[in-house]
Amino acid sequence: MTEMRANTKKLFIKTYGCQMNVYDSDRMSDALAPHGYETTLDMAQADLVLLNTCHIREKASEKVFSELGRLKELQGERRAMGGDMMIGVAGCVAQAEGEEIARRAPVVDMVFGPQAYHKLPDMLARAQAQRHMHPSLKKAVIDTDFPEEDKFEHLPAARKEVTIKRGLTAFLTVQEGCDKFCSFCVVPYTRGAEVSRPVAQVIAEARSLVDAGVKEITLLGQNVNAYHGLDAADRSVSLGELAYLLAEISGLERLRYTTSHPRDMDDVLMNAHRDLDILMPYLHLPVQSGSDSILKAMNRRHTAAEYMAIIERIKAARPDMALSGDFIVGFPGETDADFEDTLKIIADVGYASAYSFKYSTRPGTPGANLGDQVPEDVKNERLWRLQDLVNAQTTAFHASCVGKTLPVLIERPGRMPGQVGGRSPYLQAVHLDGSPELIGAIHQVEIIGTSTNSLVGRLKAVAAA
Ligand code: 5AD
Ligand code: SF4
Repeated sequence: MTEMRANTKKLFIKTYGCQMNVYDSDRMSDALAPHGYETTLDMAQADLVLLNTCHIREKASEKVFSELGRLKELQGERRAMGGDMMIGVAGCVAQAEGEEIARRAPVVDMVFGPQAYHKLPDMLARAQAQRHMHPSLKKAVIDTDFPEEDKFEHLPAARKEVTIKRGLTAFLTVQEGCDKFCSFCVVPYTRGAEVSRPVAQVIAEARSLVDAGVKEITLLGQNVNAYHGLDAADRSVSLGELAYLLAEISGLERLRYTTSHPRDMDDVLMNAHRDLDILMPYLHLPVQSGSDSILKAMNRRHTAAEYMAIIERIKAARPDMALSGDFIVGFPGETDADFEDTLKIIADVGYASAYSFKYSTRPGTPGANLGDQVPEDVKNERLWRLQDLVNAQTTAFHASCVGKTLPVLIERPGRMPGQVGGRSPYLQAVHLDGSPELIGAIHQVEIIGTSTNSLVGRLKAVAAA
């Protein structure tokens, strides 16, 4: 493939699912930029469309096939006008169903999993060669291997202009994959075994983000607090230790991480929350269920009481910690009493926010072989009850902030003219009257009210430049 084509081509990436996919999509556009691809927000104009897919729940997978139907039509329109459009399916659906996608949707030129992104330019060249084949011989380029080599080593460093486009906050993947094997979850199969990036790589990427103006970094990993990257002396460094190292980077003002597993909340990480001002007091720590028998069937390897004990330790280290979680209702065998235990643990913890899902069977996971499925209407009713409780907790949490003064990283103009918006340390959206000059720094904001999903503030003091 030739470098730096004169005529730029348009790339459209549609990202589904988690923040890890958002990060990966940025890396894909970074990898294609030297080959003349520039991102567009208009799918119909694209020469290359990539769907970066999510396989976590059934609904997420289904969306991919309906989108491919739409793309087939768009491609037909482009060809009728004398143009063309190449189509690639990336991400976890691609990893899990590679051949099946190519069979069900012959419109697809490339299918590749999350470990193959650095090979994208090469795959694209091979797919372009396929285009000249007779339709009966044309085959999609498929790459769903788990290579030994480290994909991060081969990805180009984020281009400066891309980083700037990302603004004041950025994601940084430090760990990928998972060895926990919760019985409902596809991640260990689609993202593979847990791999941590070396400390030097993480610090270098964080530094370049900060140099490009980023003030807040969110460390990403499917099981981020299982991080154990090697340092220069080949010593394994934990997430807590990494947080202390990142806190040394001058100009980095806020640090977050997601998603964590309760079993990996170690003392160093707790102490980091106690010691480091930049480590934000917001923790996404899924428990999934409050019933010990369901937790056992889910292979979570912790009980409800153990989870509560961890919450106590976290609150001792950082009393204002806001908590968030994930919940699954209707796991096979879940009784009314099991579900009541889930409501109880939610009541006991008091979440600032939470995500909740109806169990959906994922092929290839141990959960797929369990009998005693919970009927759909029961799942629906449980989900509504759970969401009512969580919504009430979120509202109460927002209300508890009224009257307080919080540091807010002002990130963007607000919805109304004359307004700006940003985030509190607890990840709440905050809107306030103020000029665009406030954007880019942390300002003290008095919280004077709440609206549906956000806080309303008043500028207390302009931060010193
Ligand atoms: N069904 C429903 N929810 C699931 N999740 C993961 N797998 C499934 C499944 N098969 C939820 C879990 C996880 C979140 C990312 O998605 O709550 O924490
Ligand atoms: Fe999936 Fe469990 Fe790993 Fe989370 S910890 S990614 S739910 S297997």
